[in-house]
Amino acid sequence: MLDAIAIGEVLIDFTPAGLTEGGNEQFECNPGGAPANVAVALSRLGTKTALISKVGQDRFGSLLRDTLLSSGVDVSGISSTNEANTTLAFVHLNNDGDRSFSFYRKPGADTFLCPQDIPLDRIESCRLLHFGSLSMTHEPASSATRAAVIKAKEAGALISFDPNIRFALWETKDAAKESILWGMKYADILKISEEELSFITDLTDIEKGAQELQQQYGIALVVVTLADKGCYYRLTAHDGYVPGLPVKAIDTTGAGDAFLGCLLFKVLEYGISLNQFTQQQMIDMLRFANAGGAFVTTRKGALQSMPTTDEINKMMDSYKQLNNDGWRPGYHFSPSSHWLNDPNGLVYYEGEYHLFYQYHPFSNKWGPMHWGHAISQDLIHWQHEPIALFPDEHGAIFSGCCVVDWNNSSGLFVGSPGLVAIFTHADTYPETGQPRQRQSLAYSSDKGRTWHKYEENPVLSEPDLVDFRDPKVFWHPESKRWVMAIVAGDHVRFYGSENLREWSLTGEFGHREGSHDGVWECPDLFELSIDDTGRTKWVLVISIGDNASCPEGSRTQYFIGEFDGNTFINDNAADHIMWLDYGRDNYAGVTWSDVPEQDGRRVMMGWMSNWKYANETPTGSWRGSMTLPRTLSLTNRDEGVVLTQMPVREIEQLRKRSMSWSEVMINPEIPFSQKMSDNLLEIEADIDISSSDEVHITLKSSEDSETVIGYDPVRQWLYIDRSKSGLTDFHSSFPCHHGASMIPDNGKIKLHIWLDRNAVEVYGNEGLVVLTDQIFPKSSINMISINSRSGQLLLNSLHIHALQSIHDSERKPEQLSRRRDG
Ligand code: FRU
Repeated sequence: MLDAIAIGEVLIDFTPAGLTEGGNEQFECNPGGAPANVAVALSRLGTKTALISKVGQDRFGSLLRDTLLSSGVDVSGISSTNEANTTLAFVHLNNDGDRSFSFYRKPGADTFLCPQDIPLDRIESCRLLHFGSLSMTHEPASSATRAAVIKAKEAGALISFDPNIRFALWETKDAAKESILWGMKYADILKISEEELSFITDLTDIEKGAQELQQQYGIALVVVTLADKGCYYRLTAHDGYVPGLPVKAIDTTGAGDAFLGCLLFKVLEYGISLNQFTQQQMIDMLRFANAGGAFVTTRKGALQSMPTTDEINKMMDSYKQLNNDGWRPGYHFSPSSHWLNDPNGLVYYEGEYHLFYQYHPFSNKWGPMHWGHAISQDLIHWQHEPIALFPDEHGAIFSGCCVVDWNNSSGLFVGSPGLVAIFTHADTYPETGQPRQRQSLAYSSDKGRTWHKYEENPVLSEPDLVDFRDPKVFWHPESKRWVMAIVAGDHVRFYGSENLREWSLTGEFGHREGSHDGVWECPDLFELSIDDTGRTKWVLVISIGDNASCPEGSRTQYFIGEFDGNTFINDNAADHIMWLDYGRDNYAGVTWSDVPEQDGRRVMMGWMSNWKYANETPTGSWRGSMTLPRTLSLTNRDEGVVLTQMPVREIEQLRKRSMSWSEVMINPEIPFSQKMSDNLLEIEADIDISSSDEVHITLKSSEDSETVIGYDPVRQWLYIDRSKSGLTDFHSSFPCHHGASMIPDNGKIKLHIWLDRNAVEVYGNEGLVVLTDQIFPKSSINMISINSRSGQLLLNSLHIHALQSIHDSERKPEQLSRRRDG
C-alpha cells in the first residue's frame, strides 16, 4: 500500500547557470513541478509515494520519469501524451536567490491528465493525497484532479493542499480564486504563503486570515509559510510561530515543497489525527520542516535538492551550533530563538505564573516589539506559549504589566475575572515622524491563552511627552482605585483609574531625585514589610537607560519611602542612590502581580543583559535571558532600610547532587580546588576572612576562560572580574571588573553563587549585595578553586550543588517522569 500520492504538474525548470564565453545566458535543466517536488521530498524521507501526472512523449518526459524513479517515487501513475510537449519553466533568480518563472505551457502535457488516468483504487487505499491548484488551470487535468481529491476524501485519506498560485497560468484571477476555494473545501492540511493568504482573504493579518480560512472551510491545520522567517501554524486548539533557519539561499525554488514534504512526512510518521498534536509536537515537526525548506535553498534546482533525514538533522545540528546552544542557559529563562528583552506582564493567576517579554520573533536584534509568552507553575520550569501581543495599527508593543481584574472593573469581561495587560504602544506621529508612546489595553478571558486588544486603544496619551512608557498598575485598596506608575523621561508619574480605561494624573516624582544617568524606564511600586517588625515601607524601582559616558550601561535603582495614593515620598535625601544589583546584567526588573496573600512574596525578575552591548552578545540566533526570579525583602541597617533579594526557594528542586566541606584551611600554597563535570552549579560558601587577604573564587574552564568572584577585606569590597571570562571582545565595555561595598559579619562573609552557562549570579550576605553578570566561557567551566592572595583563610563551610537543567531535552527520562509525577 502507498502511504502518499501527489497529483499534479511535473516539469523541467531551466535554472540560470551563468554566461557562455560569448556572453549568452546558460540554463541548467532541473526537474521540478510543485506536486512532483513534494512527492520526492516524501520519498527521500522514506514515505512510499506515487505521483500522478502526465508528460510529453519527448526526451524531457523520459528524463522526468527516470529522475522520479531514481528518487524512489512510484511512477506507474505517470502517463504520456503526444498532444503536447512536456511542460517547461524558465526560472529567474535575483541576488537573494528569490525566483520568478516564465512557463512554456500553451498547452503543456501535464494539463492533458484526464479522469481515466486516475488510479482510483490506489487513491482509495492511500493515507494521504496531496494536490495544488495548477492542475486545475485547464481541462481535462482539472476534472482529473477534482475526481482524485473527491475519491480520497470519501475514502478518509488526509488531504493536503498547496494553492501555489502562478497567475500567469490562469485565464483570470477570479478563475484562480474559484479553484483554490474549491481546494480549501477538501483540505485537511493547507500550506499557504503570506501573499496567497492575503489574495484569498483580503486580510494582511496572517493570524486573522488563517483563522478565517480554518473556520470557513473546516481546515484542521493551516500553515502559513513566511519565507526565511519560518512559518505560522494554526490548529483549532493552538497556534504559533516557528522561526526559520538562517541560511545563505542561492535558489529558493522548491523550498515550500520541501517544507511541505517534510511536514507531511512527520504527520504520517506520528500517525495521529491532526487535532491530537500538542504544541510541542507541532513545533518539533515545523522545525524539521523549516530545516528541510532551508536546505533546498542552499542548492540549485528543486526536485533533486530534496533532503534526506540525515541532511535535515545535520542542518539542524549546525544551526544549533550557530545558535550557540553552548551558552543557552540551563535554568535561566531564555526564548527558544530570537531576541528577548524586558520581562513584561508578570502576573499570577489560577495556579500559573505568566511571564511575557519583549520579543522580536524574526531577528536576534531589537526591532518591532511583540510580547512573547511563557507559563510556569513553579517559577522555574517554563512552558513556551505562542506570541501574546503583536504590533498593530497603533505601533509596536513595548513594556507593560498585567493585572487580574477580579471584579470586572474594566467591564471587559462577562461573568468571571480576567487578565488585563496595560502596555505602551510605540509608533510615530504621522505628521512629523517623531516617536509617539501611548498606553493601551489588551485582555484575556482564557487564562492568558488568547488576547484581544481593547477597541478604543490607546487609553492614555500625553502628546507633550516624548518618553512616556512602561506602565505598572496595581490595585490600591485604600484609595479604591487602580494606580499606574509610568515613566516620563526623567521622572515617574502616577495616574489613578476606577476602570483601567480612564486615567487621571495624581502625582509626579523624581525630577531631581536619585540617578539621572540615563532615561528612566520600567518603574515598579510596591509595599513590603521591614524584617519582622510589622512596619512597612514602599519601594519604587526605576531602571535607567544606557548612556555612552557611563561604563555601567543600563542599570536599576530603587527608592524607599511612602506612597500616599497620589505620589511617592522619598525617605532618603534626593542625592542618595541605591542600586538593585551591582553586576552589569540585571535590567528592567519588575515584580509579579497578584501573588496570593497566603504566599505573600514579592517576586522580581529582570532582563539579564545591558543596553550597552545587548545587541552584540555572541549567542547566535537566540539572544537574551532573564535573571532568576528573586524574592524581595526589606531590612533595617545602620544606613537605613534597604532591599535584599534571594532566588525563590523553588530553585532548590534543581539540586541533583551535592558535595559539602567544612573547616577547610586555605592559603596560597594550599588552595582549595575541585574539578567539576557539571556546569550548572550552585555554590554556598561561608568564609572567615579575619586573617586573610583577598579571597578569590575562580570558575575556570579548560580553554583558559576564568571568572573570578573576589572579596577584598581591606576595601570591604565584593566583586566580579569577568575580564578573562571567555568571549569578551564583542564589546569594549564587556571585559571588566566591578563590585560593591559589603561589610563582613563578625569577620565572616557568606556567598551564594548560581552559575549557568551564560551567567553568574552572586548573592553576598543573604542577598544584601547582589551582582549579576553574563559570561561566555570558551568551553564549559570545569574547575572551581578558592584561594587567598596571602594569609590564612578559613572556609567554615562549602556546599556545591550540581543542578539539573529545566529543559526537557537535556534531562534523562527518569528525571522527567519524576518531575511529572510530582
Ligand atoms: C527598557 C525598554 C523600555 C521599553 C522597551 C522596548 O529596556 O527600553 O523602556 O518599553 O525596552 O523594548
